[in-house]
Parts: sequence; C-alpha cells; structure tokens
Amino acid sequence: MEPTAWDGVYREGRDLFTVNATPGKKVYGETLRTVGGVEYRQWDPFRSKLAAFLLRGAPSTLWGKVERVLYLGGAHGTTASHLSDLWPDASIFVVEKSPTSFAPLLALARRRGNLLPIFADAQLPERYGADVGTVDFLYQDVAQRNQAAIFVENARASLAPSGTGLLMLKVRSVTQRRPAAAIVRDARAELARGGLAVVQETSLTPFSREHVALAVRR
Ligand SMILES: C[S@@+](CC[C@H](N)C(=O)[O-])C[C@H]1O[C@@H](n2cnc3c(N)ncnc32)[C@H](O)[C@@H]1O
Repeated sequence: MEPTAWDGVYREGRDLFTVNATPGKKVYGETLRTVGGVEYRQWDPFRSKLAAFLLRGAPSTLWGKVERVLYLGGAHGTTASHLSDLWPDASIFVVEKSPTSFAPLLALARRRGNLLPIFADAQLPERYGADVGTVDFLYQDVAQRNQAAIFVENARASLAPSGTGLLMLKVRSVTQRRPAAAIVRDARAELARGGLAVVQETSLTPFSREHVALAVRR
C-alpha cells in the first residue's frame, strides 16, 4: 500500500484506498484490506466521482488542511464516507433532500462522528448556512438542471476565500438539447459570474460518462 500525492489516499496497483475509520465495517460493499495492522477501504471510482476525478488526474493540491466541509447531495454516503476517513477531525456537513437517501446517511453518521447530515434542499442554503459556517472544501453532486447556480449560491454562503470547490457537473441533467461542450461552457460562465475561477476541468469518462469535474477557487 503506497501513499499518493493526495494526503490520506493510498494506492495498491490501480486501486485507491482510504484508512477505514470504522474497522471491520463496510459502507457500500467495498473491499477491505489490512496491511501492517492498518485496515484500508477500497475507493471505487465507478461508485464515487471523487475517486474517478483522482484517477483522471486531479491536482495534488486539491486539498490541504481541511477542517470544515460542505457536501451537497450526499445520497447514502458512499463518497462522504471516504471524506470521513480522510479527515477524521473535520466537520463534514452533508446535505441531502431525499428522505429515502437521508435514512441510510443518518445511520452512517451515527457510526462516524465527523459526518453531520442535514435534511435540506441545497437550493436553499439560507436554511442551513448559519449552522455550517465557513468551509475549506465545498463538494457538489446533485444532478439538477440548475447545478451551477446551486453551487454559486452555496459558495457565496459558505466557501472560505482560500477554499476549494468541486462541482461534479452532470451534463445531461442540464438539458438534452444542446451539445455537452456548450453546457460545460455555460456552467463555467455562471461560476465566473459568481466569482469562482475554474482551475481544472476533467471528464470523468470512463468511470462516469455523463460527468465533468470542475475544480474551482474564488
Ligand atoms: C448522484 S447522487 C449523489 C451520490 C453521492 N454524492 C456519492 O458519491 O456518494 C445525487 C444525490 O443528490 C440528491 N439531490 C438532488 N438534488 C438535491 C438538492 N437540491 N438538495 C439536496 N440533495 C439533492 C439526490 O437526492 C441524490 O441523493
């Protein structure tokens, strides 16, 4: 098991791993590996767009010291569980609006004290912004038509001036009628109008054919 350029992420062959914060417990059926008395959880790039982004060439500077995180679209907590492994001392606020997804997310958070689930619509950051405060890392994966606008509003409410944002843009959720490149261009323009500069744009193919990762800074 080799450390990678991304602090807290390990590699064995082509596979990525994080150190399991809840040894013996799986979150989504992932493989567990014990090496030198440490248990690692495999991070599946087909199940987690963040793992896909790392494998597709995310910058090593994607995160530094992370203390507060806002995660929009937590679903059952697949990716959030790996952030929980990566940053054991952080407060990771996870917003999810579907009751059926929120129930397993809540169960996961009971086992992982750094995950703080919020049952809310990410389109309304005013409902949770005061609880979340200022974050170093904003992550969004919500597959909504107005994804870029949601991201801008949440960044405005919570992203620290020195923070990093990561928008997993699901191109076909915006519209089926325009070319993908035009949709990405519009999203970038909307981010720019919101004061966010795209520092990297990466297609997540072959792991997720419909997504483009946009890493941003203020
Ligand atoms: C593709 S799934 C997220 C997968 C998750 N990020 C992961 O990697 O483990 C998208 C999630 O976003 C949630 N979602 C969609 N629109 C939302 C909104 N406006 N506010 C909060 N959650 C939303 C959906 O209910 C769904 O659970």
